[in-house]
Amino acid sequence: MKILVTGGAGFIGSNFVHHILDTYPNYEVINLDALTYAGNLENLKEYENDKRYRFVKGSITDKEMVDALVAESDIVVHFAAESHVDRSISGPDVFINTNVIGTFVLLESARKHNKRFHHVSTDEVFGALGPDDEAFNENTKYDPRSPYSASKASSDHLVRSYFHTYYLPITISNCSNNYGPYHFPEKLIPLVITNLLEGKKVPVYGDGLQVRDWLYVEDHCRAIDLIIHKGTLGETYCIGGASERENIWIVKKIIELLGKDESSIEYVKDRAGHDRRYAINFSKIKNELGFEPTVSLEEGLKRTVEWFKQNEVWWKNIKSGSYKEYYGKQYGK
Ligand code: NAD
Ligand code: DAU
Repeated sequence: MKILVTGGAGFIGSNFVHHILDTYPNYEVINLDALTYAGNLENLKEYENDKRYRFVKGSITDKEMVDALVAESDIVVHFAAESHVDRSISGPDVFINTNVIGTFVLLESARKHNKRFHHVSTDEVFGALGPDDEAFNENTKYDPRSPYSASKASSDHLVRSYFHTYYLPITISNCSNNYGPYHFPEKLIPLVITNLLEGKKVPVYGDGLQVRDWLYVEDHCRAIDLIIHKGTLGETYCIGGASERENIWIVKKIIELLGKDESSIEYVKDRAGHDRRYAINFSKIKNELGFEPTVSLEEGLKRTVEWFKQNEVWWKNIKSGSYKEYYGKQYGK
């Protein structure tokens, strides 16, 4: 099987490329990635000379390039996106271009060549939950509240429409918050770990009582593996970690794991339109495809902290590069 992975140089995409090449010796992967600020070929260094792996630098909005790559692949697994909510608030344009137009370009090409298409999406398309609301499931009404989640919701609708209109063999997954190796240090968990390692403060938005459900990234990759091999065409699968926690719990846990103290916490201005709570009911993928998260949040956080300690060069290069400018602007530091 030849898989066209889009966004394979990003956080989840690169973990997925590792997963596929390490699990299936006979599979080939083409990684199409534009190498935006979030794309990093260091994530896939060990496969540079692997004949089963090919990197192509380019945008999913480039019709000609996309068409040639889709034509030679058996399946598209689509991760490429602008993924950071804060950036979508300060600059939504690129989110529409990549997440909506880019997905459309890929779909048109998949339609032309009748290729299997898996779309990687997010639980944020469902909006925000109150403390007593039932967790999101595949039937939850879409209610996106940030430009990021609205762009992902738009792409989900497009993908689904290609199943109904053109019988394109698609599947969609909506997953909760991932964490683990290669997580870009603008997101909460890697930001907290690396700031603490640098002796800096950790910014907690608002009261820190917002709730997210956390899933170790390798478990997400296993779930996508199950869907592309055994999923029912046209179906959507919600993926979660059964690990709902308040942000402040996560921050304090990392402080404890690193032996620091809570004076590092700095409460800062809240994110605009900040969704209060996400939670996922993943019984469909559990019952139909046998998915269970295998790494507990406590274990996953330990592994992640250890990974960041062992891979200082990786994150220091990112933090001293283009990201520095963005971070400085956002927090006025
Ligand atoms: P990321 O920001 O780490 O990586 C995105 C990758 O896409 C980067 O390598 C970037 O260079 C590439 N890219 C961006 N624009 C592109 C373009 N126009 N053409 C080609 N490549 C382009 O993102 P991530 O956290 O790994 O998320 C991957 C996917 O999973 C996204 O679709 C996201 O919506 C979804 N998702 C993420 C999470 C999470 O917790 N991170 C949870 C659920 C779903
Ligand atoms: O739920 C899935 C989504 O999870 C994905 O679709 C997104 O691509 C991914 O970025 C992630 O979105 P979040 O906005 O939940 O992740 P982030 O790490 O940015 O924030 C997690 C929580 O922590 C959120 O409530 C905001 C808060 N936060 C975040 C940062 C960066 C802080 O309190 N301080 C921070 O500095």
